[in-house]
Amino acid sequence: MSKAFFITTMGCQMNDYDSDILAHSLIHAGYCKADAPEDADVILINTCTVRAKPEQKAYTLIGRMSALKERRPHVLLAVVGCLAQQKGNQLMKRFPQVDLVMGPREIGGFKDILKRIQNTRQRVEATKLEGSLDYPLPPQGYYRGRVTGYVSIMEGCNNFCTYCIVPYVRGREVSRPPREIIQEAEHLVSEGVREITLLGQNVNSYVWKGTKAWNFCALLRELNALRGLMRLRFTTSHPKDLSRELIECFGELDKLCPHIHLPFQAGSNTVLRGMGRGYTRQEYLELVQALRRVRPDIAITSDVMVGFPGERDKDFEMTLDLIKQVQFDSLFSFKYSDRKGTVAEKRRDKVEETEKASRLTRLQTLEKEIMLTKNQALEGRHVQVLVEGKSKRGHQLAGRTGTNKIVNFQSDSRTLGDIIKVNIKHAGAHSLTGEPCGP
Ligand code: SAH
Ligand code: SF4
Ligand code: F3S
Repeated sequence: MSKAFFITTMGCQMNDYDSDILAHSLIHAGYCKADAPEDADVILINTCTVRAKPEQKAYTLIGRMSALKERRPHVLLAVVGCLAQQKGNQLMKRFPQVDLVMGPREIGGFKDILKRIQNTRQRVEATKLEGSLDYPLPPQGYYRGRVTGYVSIMEGCNNFCTYCIVPYVRGREVSRPPREIIQEAEHLVSEGVREITLLGQNVNSYVWKGTKAWNFCALLRELNALRGLMRLRFTTSHPKDLSRELIECFGELDKLCPHIHLPFQAGSNTVLRGMGRGYTRQEYLELVQALRRVRPDIAITSDVMVGFPGERDKDFEMTLDLIKQVQFDSLFSFKYSDRKGTVAEKRRDKVEETEKASRLTRLQTLEKEIMLTKNQALEGRHVQVLVEGKSKRGHQLAGRTGTNKIVNFQSDSRTLGDIIKVNIKHAGAHSLTGEPCGP
């Protein structure tokens, strides 16, 4: 019987993508996917450390998997990803059952590291930040059955927003060669993937200098021409680098979905300055206007934080006001969380935990109302939905509109991977329900 692996992932889409890369290496090495960690010979925990919450969740998981390894000592237990990079040797010491601690920039070399551990049975810490982006090819058939897929176009971040750990754990920005990106996209499409999301912490600083110079827009144009691909998305773009050229792409490229995830983080210029974001509230609002001028139906989603050090009541009110002005289609909202080694962590003017919690509740209540109102405007309308699979509760099918709204509906699974027309019957804050009414 062949050996099996199990990967558990938390954090952002970049981490989901990395888990797929790790799975490719293991499949090439002769492993198959296990349904549960109890059946696996190799267990990987892909971790996140962007806030205190995922960090805690990772420790709990490592503890649980370490206990499992005590009962199955032959298991190779690896902690990978951003927390692995941040804590390195500390994790090796705290969790003696862990065989490998590996950061995100070492993933390209995972196959060799795996062999080394198997041959020597020695524990390994691999946390170089300048590792190559040389990823193994996806095994044939790996993406079959998936309607949507990710392609990473760059790694790392150079922005050093004062609250953020990512630049420390993912290293400096490096772009992948366009040829590799296009080949990977072609491969995904050949396996049946219809929608591709290009990934990077700051996709709009994508740059490649070869015989021809490439920027992010050039890459988008090339992928827009890919036969068989129906939809193209990207995440995340930084407001300070959102060029006129990229905004124009939303009017030009037929496969580029009318949706942009554009984190604003805060609505007050004092807080934005403290965060080192490199734009003002006014500049952000101008970008929103420019996007809507080019593509009036564009959905805008964002990330926002409450309780950044020094955030006063009036700063927070500016955040609420910006949300009201923009009318975001959806928001990821967080309480500021201290990350060791960042500039913001050293500030003395921290906001009380109870204050952060009450600001977050107010913000989320407001956003929920906005989402509900926006979704209700779709009741009785027809939307184009890419059918992606079973709905969350399992008894219906689900897909998304170009504007990234989840739509549940009754249909047979033969429509999987098709774009169909759905008549919206009911709107909630987080999803829509409707009836298919044509191709
Ligand atoms: N590269 C993306 C974001 C990556 S992290 C960007 O620049 O927008 C995802 C989100 O986590 C951030 O947008 C931010 O809202 C949140 N985040 C990052 N560090 C945080 C911290 N220390 N405390 C709370 N939220 C944080
Ligand atoms: Fe973090 Fe800022 Fe980089 Fe985003 S742009 S990953 S928030 S440092
Ligand atoms: Fe978390 Fe690393 Fe992503 S810290 S949010 S998994 S880049």
